[in-house]
Amino acid sequence: MDTSFEQDRLVGLARRTDDLHLVHRLRRLRRSPGLRALVQEARVTTDDLMLPLFVVDGSGKSEPVESMPGVFRESVDRMIERARSASDIGIRAVILFGIPDLKDAIGSGSHDSEGVVQRAVTALKEEIPDLVVVTDTCMCEYTDHGHCGLLDDRMDVDNDATLAALAKIAVSQAESGADLVAPSGMIDGQVGVIRGALDEAGHEQVGILSYSAKYASAYYGPFRDAAQGAPSFGDRRGQQMDPSNGSEAIREAAQDLAEGADLIMVKPALAYLDVVRRLRRKFEGVPLVAYNVSGEYAMVKAAAERGWLAERSVVLETLTSMKRAGADIIITYHAMDVAQWIHEAS
Ligand code: PBG
Ligand code: ZN
Repeated sequence: MDTSFEQDRLVGLARRTDDLHLVHRLRRLRRSPGLRALVQEARVTTDDLMLPLFVVDGSGKSEPVESMPGVFRESVDRMIERARSASDIGIRAVILFGIPDLKDAIGSGSHDSEGVVQRAVTALKEEIPDLVVVTDTCMCEYTDHGHCGLLDDRMDVDNDATLAALAKIAVSQAESGADLVAPSGMIDGQVGVIRGALDEAGHEQVGILSYSAKYASAYYGPFRDAAQGAPSFGDRRGQQMDPSNGSEAIREAAQDLAEGADLIMVKPALAYLDVVRRLRRKFEGVPLVAYNVSGEYAMVKAAAERGWLAERSVVLETLTSMKRAGADIIITYHAMDVAQWIHEAS
């Protein structure tokens, strides 16, 4: 055989493959479910999901949140049942928001050892010990004015006075058994003060999930409905980030990590996936959480109810985009549905 002829022929073929079939080459790996699964990059798993739960005083209560179909405000006994179903289908973690009957100017209920969140954590740890319990550490659910901290004479959130209050809240949540505390008020220095207070109280093992980049967003509308925690005057733009700013999120996260945050968060998720991406790149190795907030949930639910969107596909696609952007963990009101869908698909 003329080997040089054979060589030329093969080289010719190779070149042809390169030149003419570029597009075709990418489609090759999309031909079957098996191939697609093999090359899949981002994937949402049940392990990544954290379910938010709203807890109220009393017993036997389960009140639907109007703007969030499928979400309820529940007393501890009913909340436990929901948490158990979540755990039974593989959900690893819940984040608790307490809504006490009584609110006052200084948010006294927030650090009460018999407070609504403290009782909820105690019960969860007793009934479902393996479930990771995270507590929202903020004052807005407990103050009658609805702001995330103590107010000064000018009715502005007093940063440093609020720090001391947050430290007390975090310690009382840790005392009840919280695995992670999640300061959400964007009060400067909150992570450092909470870390110090937790350590001093002997809770070195309790971690901090910081709402590092929390934007002043209209997407929180339904949550404020659920938590009855809208500010009675003014807004939160004095604390929360301006939606125009991306680089500032890096400063916020860097500061939180320097103060001892164990996990960082971007909130809301969908309109801020660029921020998720930037924090992922900048802080490789730090667990990154995306909060798929109430307004994102409500939009999908509303459209799905009208038959305008296919809920399941839209939710899975949206959550996958958060993983693709770089989130490790997603806080979502869809968590139980998603766990069920993943379960059915496997
Ligand atoms: C309170 C808090 C809010 C959310 C989580 N913690 C509301 C706010 O800042 O006004 C919003 C969550 C959601 O919209 O799902 N600090
Ligand atoms: Zn708050």
